[in-house]
Amino acid sequence: MQIDEHISAVVTGGASGLGAAVVAALRARGAAVAILDRDAERGMVFAREVGATFQETDVTDAGSVASALGAARGAQGQERICVNCAGIAPAAKTVSRGAAHDLALFQSVINVNLVGSFNVASQSAAGMVAADPLGEERGVVIHTASIAAFEGQMGQAAYAASKGGIAGLTLPMARDLARDGVRVMAIAPGIFGTPMVTSMSQEIQDGLAAGIPFPQRLGDPDEFAALALHIVENAFLNGSVIRLDGATRLTPR
Ligand SMILES: NC(=O)c1ccc[n+]([C@@H]2O[C@H](COP(=O)([O-])OP(=O)(O)OC[C@H]3O[C@@H](n4cnc5c(N)ncnc54)[C@H](O)[C@@H]3O)[C@@H](O)[C@H]2O)c1
Repeated sequence: MQIDEHISAVVTGGASGLGAAVVAALRARGAAVAILDRDAERGMVFAREVGATFQETDVTDAGSVASALGAARGAQGQERICVNCAGIAPAAKTVSRGAAHDLALFQSVINVNLVGSFNVASQSAAGMVAADPLGEERGVVIHTASIAAFEGQMGQAAYAASKGGIAGLTLPMARDLARDGVRVMAIAPGIFGTPMVTSMSQEIQDGLAAGIPFPQRLGDPDEFAALALHIVENAFLNGSVIRLDGATRLTPR
């Protein structure tokens, strides 16, 4: 799908990090973009900066997503691109100091990262399948998994499970939507320089960068955005998870 001023997009988690980079890249191509994020303060400022719109949204809530998509469609038409970047990454071990992992914490990570992504993607796809085709396709959904889906570290049981879920649902979603010309892909990033990571101490960040074979630095959010845009433009990419990680394979800790 060609990205230009005739295309409408929604980006969850677009107020920060990887999502914000995707918003900026889509805006640079002229696409109309709605940011769906729960962080209204940051989201509104950034939306104004790049000429996007902002909808305060909790991706885990069906009603919140329905009204955000409704408002975005009212303002800029049916979205043809849906990029899911909203996510959280709290760390906790299965058993810590004799106590089992807090179940509510486990459930909240699954709820935001996995249920939230499916909630937005399925509601977005419902709008896409009802729209006229643009050439051979009607729309594209891009999920954000993580390399932790495949080699989660200590303390990442909940996060890795949520991202493994994303990796698992990408192909069946693509199959479900194939007849309607909607593609579904996922990107599994390695370690990127976003607030999720840059909020850690410099020592931890240096350690993370040192573990990346090449290039030996944190990933640049613009590199993530560039892949997301390529996925939109390349109609033969469908139903798979692409690692974007500088050959990183996470170690146990
Ligand atoms: N940064 C990395 O190294 C890295 C690596 C692998 C995967 N990822 C994944 O990439 C995605 C983006 O991460 P990031 O690094 O840009 O993080 P970030 O913290 O900079 O941005 C995440 C955004 O999601 C929003 N969000 C969180 N919960 C939400 C909810 N319930 N409803 C709506 N919005 C919500 C936050 O407000 C924030 O703006 C996440 O899914 C993360 O797991 C990041």
